[in-house]
Amino acid sequence: MNECDVKAFEAYYGEILPMLKQGEAFLLNLIGEYPIRETKDGIQPILYTKSRIKSPKSMEEKLKRKGECPDIRKSFPNIHDIIGIRVICSFVEEAYRVEEWLKTRKGTRIIEKKDYIAYPKQNGYRSLHLIVAFTTEKWEGFTAEIQIRTIAHDFWAVLEHQMKYKKDVEHEALIQSELKRCADEIASLDVSLQMIRDIIRDDNWEEKNT
Ligand code: GTP
Ligand code: MG
Repeated sequence: MNECDVKAFEAYYGEILPMLKQGEAFLLNLIGEYPIRETKDGIQPILYTKSRIKSPKSMEEKLKRKGECPDIRKSFPNIHDIIGIRVICSFVEEAYRVEEWLKTRKGTRIIEKKDYIAYPKQNGYRSLHLIVAFTTEKWEGFTAEIQIRTIAHDFWAVLEHQMKYKKDVEHEALIQSELKRCADEIASLDVSLQMIRDIIRDDNWEEKNT
């Protein structure tokens, strides 16, 4: 973030900015404590983690769209994705394992779940979204959105997000259907790779037990 951005964030979020930054750091640290670095079959469950505090521009638009008070310092309890954390996993089964583990953590409580892996969005978007509330008194009213997805899901979502702003209206229907096709193909690759993983796992198990 450059100096101008820092100033803009400070001016926009005011006195709640330190809380937001601490909340973001708390969650990054929490994810960093995930106990499995490598599974028994040699897989790294969490590949990497990203985080951000929503930009003033994008937050202004959201508050307008939701009809909320334009002063984020007042409306923050109604907005659940000011702090955003993205956990990129190797496989779908690992994504759900991270969710299960998160449920048991102290300091946060999952208050909402949207499972776009089991139920993809119409455009093909896949990701597991959890809204967490901080349970520590000093963070009263603060929440965050944790998106857990595979690297394959992320590949599609990142590119689709970048292309959103460059839509050629004339070809919109074609673009939508091609993007959906790509999302489905990518999801099917996840399934194929999982199958390979299962075969390797079974072979190794047989080797060890025969
Ligand atoms: P908001 O009012 O914006 O919070 O809408 P919502 O709560 O219905 O949002 P949802 O939980 O569906 O998605 C929230 C976040 O998920 C977005 O800010 C994006 O980061 C991501 N997301 C959702 N849909 C898409 C999509 O179609 N493409 C991409 N690339 N990202 C998406
Ligand atoms: Mg949302």
